[in-house]
Amino acid sequence: MQIGTPLSSSALKVMLLGAGELGKEVIISLQRYGVEVIAVDRYENAPGHQVAHRAYTMDMTDEDSLRELILKEKPKYIVPEIEAIATHVLAELEQEGVAEVIPKARATQLTMNREGIRRLAAEELALPTSRYAFAKSLNELKIAIDGGVGYPCFIKPVMSSSGKGQSLINSSNEVEAAWEYALQGGRVNQPNVIVEEKIEFDFEITLLTIRSLDESGNIQTSFCEPIGHVQISGDYVESWQPQPMTEKALALSKDIAKKITDNLGGRGIFGVELFVKGDDVWFSEVSPRPHDTGMVTMVSQRQNEFELHARAILGLPVNSELTSAGASAVIYGSMDEVGVSFVGLELALSVPQAEVRLFGKPESFVKRRMGVALAYSDSVAQARENAKVAAGQVKVIKE
Ligand SMILES: Nc1ncnc2c1ncn2[C@@H]1O[C@H](COP(=O)(O)OP(=O)(O)O)[C@@H](O)[C@H]1O
Ligand SMILES: [Mg+2]
Repeated sequence: MQIGTPLSSSALKVMLLGAGELGKEVIISLQRYGVEVIAVDRYENAPGHQVAHRAYTMDMTDEDSLRELILKEKPKYIVPEIEAIATHVLAELEQEGVAEVIPKARATQLTMNREGIRRLAAEELALPTSRYAFAKSLNELKIAIDGGVGYPCFIKPVMSSSGKGQSLINSSNEVEAAWEYALQGGRVNQPNVIVEEKIEFDFEITLLTIRSLDESGNIQTSFCEPIGHVQISGDYVESWQPQPMTEKALALSKDIAKKITDNLGGRGIFGVELFVKGDDVWFSEVSPRPHDTGMVTMVSQRQNEFELHARAILGLPVNSELTSAGASAVIYGSMDEVGVSFVGLELALSVPQAEVRLFGKPESFVKRRMGVALAYSDSVAQARENAKVAAGQVKVIKE
């Protein structure tokens, strides 16, 4: 592998499709190797825009403008960071040999729709999942629940992320409201929802799985220590690493992660989401990219998930070792405002072994993730406590 000089004709160019807080860190990691990075997002001054060589603002679900931009910039690698992309354009350009899509265009197509990835995992690869069904109308949904999924169950638009349009219901009189809510939260107009049996897990994990090249240039799979997390309304609020689990459950988790990532192929990091109860493990979903709960690795690993992604993309060796226990706690916007300020950082950073990242998002929303507090420690419990205390010290104000 070879890296040229950025902003010259020898530059190795990488285009990030989506430039939020995760993309921003991937960009910084790539920049450290002298890669020329182009960041694309749907709004101006997105976090990744602020650290890239060039920034574009566009609707990436618009096929023509996406194709035009890629053909103009001619990146060697295209790195999707979000799901709302006209992924068949990526498939076409990959096919035409214009650029390499990370990990593969097919992976982005399968994972942008819950139906694609769930059918692959459960029906093709026979991985354990919750009972599920798909429904295109309220009536189909009622039949699916009564016909086997049962209560309690989750209802989610097939095209959505971060818990948007998702509800947990306990009885038949909640179905209609959940259906309506899913219609509002989905990304497309034709309604399609997945209804899933609720798994009564002990805890849930993200198993970061890396497909990189070994010394002989062959693909090798490695795993980070499991990351435990707490989700509220489908959005992550806290994560930690390592999550203790039984040897059997860990082996099963790695087996599931290996099978799904082998099938998706390519190089890069994947966030495999799993539910765990005792020795039992269920596959939930997978992101073919760094995972929000994996921000904890910024303090718990020598090479964090963004560095691992960058290295895997470039074909460089990776090391997924843990250096200490760590935790992350989300800092929310707490108000709907443009151009907010943050105070209390000196207090947050006085908490032992705590760090803070502010993403620099131009607009704050009450429940928008604006930053994250991180802490490492000898124990997970202490790291979690310190990360939460540090996050609580950061206040958002608008004068
Ligand atoms: N079938 C299920 N059983 C138990 N909990 C679930 C189930 N589906 C979703 N959840 C909870 O909701 C969270 C978000 O669901 P997920 O499918 O990961 O949506 P998203 O794509 O928005 O992240 C999960 O991390 C988990 O906490
Ligand atoms: Mg998820």
